[in-house]
Amino acid sequence: MLNLVLFGPPGAGKGTQSQKLIDHYQLMHISTGDIFRAHIKLQTELGKKVSQLIADGQLVPDAVTIAMLEEEVKQNPQAKGFIFDGFPRTVPQAEALDAFLAGINEKITAVIALDVTQEELTRRIAERHKVTNRPDDDAEKLKKRIEEYFTKTVQVLPYYEAQGKLDKINGIGNIDTIFADLCKVVDRFEV
Ligand code: AP5
Ligand code: MG
Repeated sequence: MLNLVLFGPPGAGKGTQSQKLIDHYQLMHISTGDIFRAHIKLQTELGKKVSQLIADGQLVPDAVTIAMLEEEVKQNPQAKGFIFDGFPRTVPQAEALDAFLAGINEKITAVIALDVTQEELTRRIAERHKVTNRPDDDAEKLKKRIEEYFTKTVQVLPYYEAQGKLDKINGIGNIDTIFADLCKVVDRFEV
């Protein structure tokens, strides 16, 4: 299996590049943010539990997120591999993912971090905020998301670096050029 973690701050292009990667490599895309938003829309118990946290730009507690992620993987036993988008976001999530994958004789193949400046992230999300209704795209809430990223989520990078699995690529510029750079990394592992 090819199991990729697509890593990066809010607005880095994780969702955009995931769409291209799933087409190219026939992988299953798991975006924890997308799954949470679907639960919120359907007003499930989980959706009710996380809706305020997400609207405020705060991370959902690890236990809730890990359980949801594992369920999603289990529901797709036929997958050729996964793209984890927006997960793991904390070291306990990364450890839980490693342990869970080991339990099904799998592992993370590579972690690719999209490098984008804060100015560019802010510009992209402000643009998106004009046309979509993600409440956490509001400028104040985005500030909180960026703060969560730079205080908690970046700590995941040394975790994977220590495993020799981390690649960083430039996430600014033409979407297809960034995708080509991603493919160069992934093609090292494709069998
Ligand atoms: P999540 O949904 O993961 O949001 P995020 O990480 O803040 O990132 P986005 O989805 O906004 O951005 P993206 O990197 O996917 O970029 P995109 O391709 O959309 O998480 C939302 C919330 O859920 C979290 O805040 C938290 O509350 C909760 N959550 C989720 N996972 C969790 C976890 N593991 N633990 C705890 N809580 C969790 O691109 C952004 C915009 O830029 C788009 O408009 C796009 O068209 C544009 N764009 C993309 N690429 C380019 C480019 N190269 N040039 C110009 N524009 C571009
Ligand atoms: Mg996204």
